Amino acid sequence: PMPERVTIYEVGPRDGLQNESAVVPVAVKAEMITRLLDAGLPVIEATSFVHPKWVPQLADAAELMGLLVDRIGDAARRMPVLVPNEKGLDRALDLGLEHVAVFGSATETFAQKNLNRSYDEQFAMFEPTVRRARDAGMDVRGYLSMCFGDPWEGAVPVEQVVRAGVRLLEMGAGQLSLGDTIGVATAGHVQAMVAAFAEAGVGVDRLAMHFHDTYGQALANTHAALQVGVTTFDASAGGLGGCPYAKSATGNLATEDLVWMLRGLGVETGVDLDAVVDTTVFMADALGKSPASAVARALAGA
Ligand code: HMG
Ligand code: MG
Repeated sequence: PMPERVTIYEVGPRDGLQNESAVVPVAVKAEMITRLLDAGLPVIEATSFVHPKWVPQLADAAELMGLLVDRIGDAARRMPVLVPNEKGLDRALDLGLEHVAVFGSATETFAQKNLNRSYDEQFAMFEPTVRRARDAGMDVRGYLSMCFGDPWEGAVPVEQVVRAGVRLLEMGAGQLSLGDTIGVATAGHVQAMVAAFAEAGVGVDRLAMHFHDTYGQALANTHAALQVGVTTFDASAGGLGGCPYAKSATGNLATEDLVWMLRGLGVETGVDLDAVVDTTVFMADALGKSPASAVARALAGA
């Protein structure tokens, strides 16, 4: 049985642009985001309030969000932004933003590489961040990276992922996004993961899937997750993306590839496929390279 409707959580402006070698001008980012909004994407993760030296591509986060708030008001305040710690949260609160995401690692090595914290220290950093965000009435998403494999540690046991995910949820995250940071997941592994969370009392209504397409499995994995009832999927226009601190991470599942499959399955998304492809072409021109998305190449000859 397929869900009738799914929510596409667009991460292109954040996960996509954080990994481009070129720093995209703030006006182009704002244009990308307003185009995605016009295309009907219900949730658009706009940027990250991280240390500007760690991710220089998103060092303009405050300027970008200020610009968007001026231009589109509440629609911009509702856009999620990444915050690793209280300092990031304060920067989001200053702008009146309403939705933040913390991002943890299921493994020790990646916690150190991505957050400069041990596995346990990352939770100590998130705890006051999530608590204060919730007290301020914000929505909070918890990301977990390396859920299906880690380039340094290899296989990651499902139980280890469940333990870390439950910690983020118990802390107060409303939704948990399971990251296949390096794209190694396969369909059976995805279904086993969902089942293990269900056994720990975490239903599919609290889960999102975040697939990178490194091994070309992202759509197959999405289909497997749909079959077990998952209804929120992260994707990035054009398949932009990766993670600067994860060896061998490539782009996310492309939004238009996802919309194409869901349209064929008769699953509602509210997203205008042609408008997403137009945005991908706009960004490909801005970045000076052709898109990774097969659907964009087929439909736009891009
Ligand atoms: P640190 O160096 O340990 O920071 O970095 P610190 O706490 O020791 O502070 C050092 C200085 O940084 C201080 O300034 C702080 O104020 C400042 P000083 O007193 O020296 O002048 N600082 C900040 N400045 C601005 N914004 C902040 C902030 N925090 C501290 N938020 C830190 C620790 C977490 C900050 C750093 O490691 C960091 O920024 N990491 C972010 C890495 C990142 O963004 N990675 C990509 C996103 S995750 C991802 O892509 C995976 C995902 O897509 C899911 C998947 O695919 O798996 C989500
Ligand atoms: Mg990612």
